[in-house]
Amino acid sequence: MNDAPKHRPLVFSGMQPTNTLHLGNYLGALKNWIKLQDQMPCLYCVVDMHAITVWQDPAQLARATREVTAAYIAAGVDPARSILFNQSQVAAHAELAWVFNCVARIGWLNRMTQFKDKAGKNRENASVGLFVYPDLMAADILAYRATHVPVGEDQKQHLELSRDIAQKFNLDYSAPDFFPLPEPVITGPGTRVMSLRDGTKKMSKSDESDNSRINLTDDADTIAQKIRRAKTDTHPMPSEPKELEGRPEAENLINIYAGLAGHTPETVIAEYAGAQFSTFKNALADVAVAKLTPIADEMRKLLNDPAEIDLILKNGAARAAAIAAPVMEEVRRLVGFVG
Ligand code: TRP
Repeated sequence: MNDAPKHRPLVFSGMQPTNTLHLGNYLGALKNWIKLQDQMPCLYCVVDMHAITVWQDPAQLARATREVTAAYIAAGVDPARSILFNQSQVAAHAELAWVFNCVARIGWLNRMTQFKDKAGKNRENASVGLFVYPDLMAADILAYRATHVPVGEDQKQHLELSRDIAQKFNLDYSAPDFFPLPEPVITGPGTRVMSLRDGTKKMSKSDESDNSRINLTDDADTIAQKIRRAKTDTHPMPSEPKELEGRPEAENLINIYAGLAGHTPETVIAEYAGAQFSTFKNALADVAVAKLTPIADEMRKLLNDPAEIDLILKNGAARAAAIAAPVMEEVRRLVGFVG
């Protein structure tokens, strides 16, 4: 069934340059991306073309693209080893997305829950780009014949669509195994970071309350303050994992601690069993500050030299384009484009 061995293992993932990144992006994605660099070649993309599926102020988009690039590097993406670039600089993404617009079916896209959520009630007024967003995502991955895609829960449906597109392309153009069927890479503990104000909601850059999230650019005092103010319940720390049932805020803080300290949640529970929450919060604030402030400092340093960031992106784009070129040549031939 799985044709992965026919394709060289390759990671592709991306994030939208929409706001500054937060702890959820770090623990849920970046931390995992960094580890994967030791396992196989990786492409990490700032998906600015995806960003404009909803309106973006141009100056702000450019700023956010540099900021997300700086965050990738500050968190540990090594631009010498991995290919770090922004999507709009490699034309293969747009070109292959067009072909995929003609492979994917309207019925498939109609089933995408993220479109329904993002378009909301005013579906008629959503951009066409927002509707075909998953086709562009499939193109991102398949232009490089990437086999492994670290994604969060919310992107699983899109990744499944990428597999369907790959499969239908291979079938329609009688090119068995031309595209791999990309696999999700499941992330470890601490993956789902929830809001500090409501343990049932994901930590999100669009939450109105800045106290609900820890931004990667927050300074030490802000981080400590947000953690001390984080919502908890009236019980002390649990002594066993099953005591976390119905305590989403406690569970979230324990997961965050585990993710940041590189422990399992079970170890954290054992260590703080029965402690007052304030004691645990102080320890969590220390771990968070120790782990996150060096990232913020490095980001600030990098952002002081935007020309250097642009150069890194340009080099990355050239390396990415070189991998996509032979794939796209073959796509054009298979589809019947003359030239
Ligand atoms: N849609 C993803 C998100 O919003 C970002 C993304 C775009 C992506 N292209 C991708 C992720 C390709 C993985 C692979 O999170």
